[in-house]
Amino acid sequence: MDYEYAALDFSDESEAGRERRAAWMQAVSQGFHQGRPPQEQVDVWLRHVEADDVECRGVWLPEGAFGAGPVPVATTSWFDKTLNTGRDLLPLRMITDVTTNPAHRRRGLIRTLMEDCLSDAAARGIPLAALTVSETTIYGRWGFGVATFGEHVEVDTGPRFGLRPGIEPAGRVEMVDPRDSWPLISRLLDRHHREHRGSVATPGFYEDIYTGRYHWMERSPDAKLRAAVHLTEEDAEVDGMVLYRVEKEDGKRLARVVCLLGFGADAYLGLWRFLAGIDLVERVVWHAADPADPVRWALADLGAFKTTAMEDFLWVRLLDVPMALGARPWAADGDLVLEVTDAQGHASGRYRLLAKDGVADVSRSDDRAEVALSAETLGSLYLGGVPASGLRDTGRITGDRAAVDRLVAMATLPTQPFNLLGF
Ligand SMILES: CC(C)(COP(=O)(O)OP(=O)(O)OC[C@H]1O[C@@H](n2cnc3c(N)ncnc32)[C@H](O)[C@@H]1OP(=O)(O)O)[C@@H](O)C(=O)NCCC(=O)NCCS
Repeated sequence: MDYEYAALDFSDESEAGRERRAAWMQAVSQGFHQGRPPQEQVDVWLRHVEADDVECRGVWLPEGAFGAGPVPVATTSWFDKTLNTGRDLLPLRMITDVTTNPAHRRRGLIRTLMEDCLSDAAARGIPLAALTVSETTIYGRWGFGVATFGEHVEVDTGPRFGLRPGIEPAGRVEMVDPRDSWPLISRLLDRHHREHRGSVATPGFYEDIYTGRYHWMERSPDAKLRAAVHLTEEDAEVDGMVLYRVEKEDGKRLARVVCLLGFGADAYLGLWRFLAGIDLVERVVWHAADPADPVRWALADLGAFKTTAMEDFLWVRLLDVPMALGARPWAADGDLVLEVTDAQGHASGRYRLLAKDGVADVSRSDDRAEVALSAETLGSLYLGGVPASGLRDTGRITGDRAAVDRLVAMATLPTQPFNLLGF
């Protein structure tokens, strides 16, 4: 089949151009087994395309072939923002909308789109790429390694809930209407991005989701979305927020957290205490919590807090190894030569890593490699969310034992990365 690979043209205002854009969106919905997107959803997506300068690539059947038309048989889109690497905000290629029509699967359509996307990013000097995935077995072959996790937590907010004696968060919580709070919400998201390793800059479509203007799954305004913010003492500053929905499950009410972030223990614990105090609600659930969420350590009864699942979240791929490794913190001083293998070649090569006082100087080297790892493993090592010792102990980092141990000591960071935002 002579497939036609092309990018969507967003400047084409003709009827055919508009139809092709709606058809592209339809292909994505079909790929994720969702209903046909109503025009409103197409409009929400088009706002994001414009705000984030999204590139939408697709594969179409050649004209005249049975089944040919405006709906592509494979899709992939991307946009460029930033990743907090621990010492910097580096340019990041964010990839999404990866689908293939089931009648055309396993013919290499996604391989072509993905490899074109990575080559384009590398040619533009973008050092990192990332995605959030539906299946964990797909992206390692393109050098992506799992890098951050989201924890599913469930907190019993009945009489069992309470903070330990002596823990009394300062400040206060006030509810706000999410519909007119975007300036505040986006400011807090930006601060989170600046301060938290592993976080990505906010994609444009979050404005619709976090203000309740549009619920992607329900395909209507999100009338149930509620928001509360935490204020420091004397209302000097807003230093945290929670977005949540109260839902019914098995006849019992729960508060489902959509987003929770607090800068400092007062904000974080204050917001959790607020959630736990909502009347008629028996549990709080959050399916993308920070695995390092401190609330459990503040509870009088640890049994009120349950982890129900742990999920991979952000997958990271290094395209420019010296730039990326130079922008990450290092926990120990050390000097070693590592060799990266990469099927697509972007990260391939030998590099000297010289770390001192938390900062590494990284350059290409012709010296003998002491340590070897794949691009996928490097992606997992990068943000410090996957234990380097686990990568060593499973044979994913190999080489001279002392050098491997040195890399593990250098790469193991004292805090966990966390990303709030899927895309
Ligand atoms: C995942 C999906 C996009 C793959 O598309 P595709 O066009 O069939 O992929 P390709 O033919 O280009 O396959 C490329 C490689 O990925 C592998 N692969 C594809 N889908 C896979 C899957 N679900 N699990 C494991 N490997 C997979 C192929 O075996 C192939 O491997 P190889 O080249 O090393 O032999 C497609 O199955 C799909 O639309 N799935 C539903 C939506 C989805 O899950 N999207 C991913 C969102 S993160």
